[in-house]
Amino acid sequence: MISRTSLLVLSALFLGLSSAQSPDDQLGFVFQMVRHGARAPLKPQPPNVFKVAGGCLTASGMRQRFLLGAYHREKYIEKYGLLDDTFNPNQIYSQATDVHRVLQSTYSEFQGLYPPTGDEFALSDGELSSLSSDKGMPPMKIRNSDAHKEAAAEDKQNRQLRAVIDGYTMIPVFSYLPNSIYDDVNQKGCYYVDQCIQNQITDPKYYAGEGREVLPIVGYHLAQAYRWPQSKVQGMNYLDFYLLADALVAEKFEGSPERANFSGEDWFYIRNAQKVVLIKSFDTLARKLLASRNFDAPMKQMGKKIDQLLGGTESRDSLRYILQSEHDTHLINAVQWLQPLSYDYVDMPFSSELVMELHYNQTCLNTPQDKGLSCFTVEALNNNIPLQFDTCITANKGRGSTSTTCLFEDFVAHLDKRKVQTQNIFTQCQSAYDPYPMMAESFFLRD
Ligand SMILES: *[C@@H]1O[C@H](CO)[C@@H](O)[C@H](O)[C@H]1NC(C)=O
Ligand SMILES: *[C@@H]1O[C@H](CO)[C@@H](O)[C@H](O)[C@H]1NC(C)=O
Repeated sequence: MISRTSLLVLSALFLGLSSAQSPDDQLGFVFQMVRHGARAPLKPQPPNVFKVAGGCLTASGMRQRFLLGAYHREKYIEKYGLLDDTFNPNQIYSQATDVHRVLQSTYSEFQGLYPPTGDEFALSDGELSSLSSDKGMPPMKIRNSDAHKEAAAEDKQNRQLRAVIDGYTMIPVFSYLPNSIYDDVNQKGCYYVDQCIQNQITDPKYYAGEGREVLPIVGYHLAQAYRWPQSKVQGMNYLDFYLLADALVAEKFEGSPERANFSGEDWFYIRNAQKVVLIKSFDTLARKLLASRNFDAPMKQMGKKIDQLLGGTESRDSLRYILQSEHDTHLINAVQWLQPLSYDYVDMPFSSELVMELHYNQTCLNTPQDKGLSCFTVEALNNNIPLQFDTCITANKGRGSTSTTCLFEDFVAHLDKRKVQTQNIFTQCQSAYDPYPMMAESFFLRD
């Protein structure tokens, strides 16, 4: 029998958590893009499967993001000490789209990152200062607060009351309403991108090739699933299929019994519809704009963090974690835009994340002749799978290294080849979108 201690050791090994972090591998900054947790299908579905309305976050969706937050707590607080043990409002900036499931998801994740603290169920100093500096919810007036009590006792009582009243939203999440050109998370404020996606995600002609290829394969079981005549399936287009596929994936996640005996191949096409439609609903400029806007501010902040570390001005109060809470659209197009080497995936499941971690070598920073930009590397991870980039590998080779890890400057060079420069984003966002002439060529054949 395995003892409890060895199980703990085993799980620590499995998670890769070592007690003392090596000075050669420190974490300086994290930029996380994340999809909301599991939701009910976008299109209203038959009753009795979901307890929430179409498009809303489910309980298991909340749990997913709560667990993701708990995982980040282990990695970014306990393992790397990137973030303080109790919430420090100066260290984190989070922005979300104005969609309910995304906002709820973000709060759920923060509950996992900073869960309520055990016996002293009260707000920490960081939470209190967040509230009093208007970064969090404005404090509520509390009735019957006893003015005769001693100040310290009253303070404690207030903290306890506030923990109950305000505690749930202790970490603020920002979002823009209405749409704004300054909102670089939600694509709606960028006219070109919005026009492009609205056109291409509603016009079946863009996906005619995929329809011809996929519908005959999945059609039989699809008709079985919905008790439709085969003729109805034959009359469908790929966008109709995409919405059905979205519902099937959501039902499967919810643990609902499968509607038909779908084969492995069927499930591949069902899951893959998301990736196909979301990539093809963007043209090259729209994708460039979407991703450039997403990466713009976080990469600047990452650069600032490097300046602070090199200049010796880094403090525990410096910004070190940017969380962008968004949609599959953003993650799928960011990965497509980054063009990682030999990387393939079927779909971008609920709660997927794309994380850019800035690592640095403290020994290198402490060594005068080595100190410089080359002490910094960037690791890009999609659901924990490390991504590799040609720009970085070629540059490493040029330095006589076979490493696949990006130096920070090479990662920046990789983005520079692809991005719309900051000063051109506004004008390009305002440029006119012309629908593509025709794009009937199949995604599967192209790939
Ligand atoms: C799936 O296959 C099993 C075993 O072949 C069969 O009993 C069942 O009726 C099938 N389900 C559907 C929905 O066709
Ligand atoms: C960290 O930097 C030191 C000094 O430049 C170097 O000797 C060491 O190999 C580096 N460690 C890693 C893991 O790159």
